[in-house]
Amino acid sequence: MNEYLNRAIEIAREAGAILREGFNRPKQISYKGEVDLVTESDKRSEALVVARLRNDFPDHGIVAEEGGGAQAVAKYCWHVDPLDGTTNFAHGYPCFAVSIGLAENGHPIAGAVFNPVYDELFAAARGEGAYLNGERIRVSPVEKLATSLVATGFPTHQRKKSANINYYWQFTLRSHGVRRDGAAALDLCAVACGRFDAFWEFGLKSWDTTAGIVIVEEAGGCITDLQGQPYHLGGPSILASNGRVHREVLEVAAGIAKDAQ
Ligand code: IPD
Ligand code: CA
Ligand code: CA
Repeated sequence: MNEYLNRAIEIAREAGAILREGFNRPKQISYKGEVDLVTESDKRSEALVVARLRNDFPDHGIVAEEGGGAQAVAKYCWHVDPLDGTTNFAHGYPCFAVSIGLAENGHPIAGAVFNPVYDELFAAARGEGAYLNGERIRVSPVEKLATSLVATGFPTHQRKKSANINYYWQFTLRSHGVRRDGAAALDLCAVACGRFDAFWEFGLKSWDTTAGIVIVEEAGGCITDLQGQPYHLGGPSILASNGRVHREVLEVAAGIAKDAQ
């Protein structure tokens, strides 16, 4: 298996152990914004991941959410979310993960996402398939939005400006339901292994999506933005799906955007 992916997996497991340990202790929470939380565990996890990546791949760039990376312009760049789902973590809801993705010239090529409470390790490298705890995973066979379970998330910054509640409402009326689980990297992995049939969100960052994108695509899924255009890391919106419901989701999203004008 891919050398980079192997290392990402090892580091994700190591950082996951830090999170699991922190999850069982009283938490020190501070605020980066109105409801944007950060804990000691975010910082400890990030310090470990960044130190390991710097040591192993000194020529690679690193972008890490809590600012510990080095925004190097490099062919290979790691995008690290040391704790995706901080709000869940802080409230004792066991839905959070470490996400470590690698992009080559801006294109995601490998990623590992680890939920240490459920002991679920999702991993993929470009051209080598997607795996959950070593078992091959694939997206769902669901053909219609009406029989889909879909997911979204809401930003913690500028949330009063987000129109996503309209999308949440409309997709709720047109599907089996919309989940809001609070960890975008895990939402992408849930599409990859067929738990969700589609996931959309506005305003995600490269550390939320780089690993998950490879995992979805290698599981046979489809990634675009909500206009159906290619998704670029850090772009304004993302849609991940099993591919079969992608067009229908895009059509509904276009209708919602039109009605809002
Ligand atoms: C957040 C989670 C959440 C999503 C937010 C993200 P964080 O990441 O992924 O599900 O809705 O947009 O910022 O802050 O917990 O790493
Ligand atoms: Ca995140
Ligand atoms: Ca985070």
